[in-house]
Amino acid sequence: MSTQNIFDNQTFFDGYKALRDSDCNANDLIEQPAMRKLLPDLSGKSVLDLGCGYGHNCIDFVKRGAVGVVGVDISEKMLAVAKSESADEKIRYINMSMTDIGNLNEKFDFIYSSLAFHYVKDFVAFSKEMYSVLNPGGYLLFSQEHPIITATVDGKGHFNKDENGNRISYTFSDYNRSGERKVHWYVDDVIKYHRTFGDIITALAKAGFVIEEVCEPVPEEWAIEKLPTMAKEYIKPNFLIVKARK
Ligand SMILES: C[S@@+](CC[C@H](N)C(=O)[O-])C[C@H]1O[C@@H](n2cnc3c(N)ncnc32)[C@H](O)[C@@H]1O
Repeated sequence: MSTQNIFDNQTFFDGYKALRDSDCNANDLIEQPAMRKLLPDLSGKSVLDLGCGYGHNCIDFVKRGAVGVVGVDISEKMLAVAKSESADEKIRYINMSMTDIGNLNEKFDFIYSSLAFHYVKDFVAFSKEMYSVLNPGGYLLFSQEHPIITATVDGKGHFNKDENGNRISYTFSDYNRSGERKVHWYVDDVIKYHRTFGDIITALAKAGFVIEEVCEPVPEEWAIEKLPTMAKEYIKPNFLIVKARK
């Protein structure tokens, strides 16, 4: 089966856009602050942003001194937003699957990806592709949905509450069954791929990457003040972030 392009589904696109436009989403409150802390120095560097979406990070990389940024995304709708909201002469947006990055015939100093790798089926092959398009000494920094989130086959991982309605634990299953998951997210049958923590780290290490940091971010105080329910991240992580070097 070819790679799913769910972000071009209008219902999905509208739902996801509304989520990102609200100022209380987990990306802005947890994932992005943690990712920013792990960014390497980008002055004079070439950057590849995989699953770049609206291109907001591509613009940020230019502001941080990147000399050139390539933003890759499978969704024409997401790239249409990127081209109108995040255009810059140093950025090129390319509509293709990130699994085809070998076809770019280009090398980069930094590969970045925010919340897109759980859409990639074969992470072993993809890790090797990324390694081959990265310059020696270059960095890979990515976030993805945490394996605890992607695990449950019927998509029904859930919090359990005490008698006062406070979340106290989280139930998930099928952790050690890696593979495709079809979940309902705005629409039915959104395809994601579950991999164990071990699968992910081993794929990267065997491709040749040196893992420098693994982060399962929790909200900072300001984020909990803004959205107190974010304290639930202390029960289980939503995101996995990895920084690796070639
Ligand atoms: C959750 S969004 C994140 C967008 C952006 N990185 C951000 O953080 O704002 C995931 C993005 O990955 C893109 N995507 C999913 N599968 C892809 C693939 N195989 N190749 C390229 N992009 C893909 C989607 O179209 C979408 O724009």
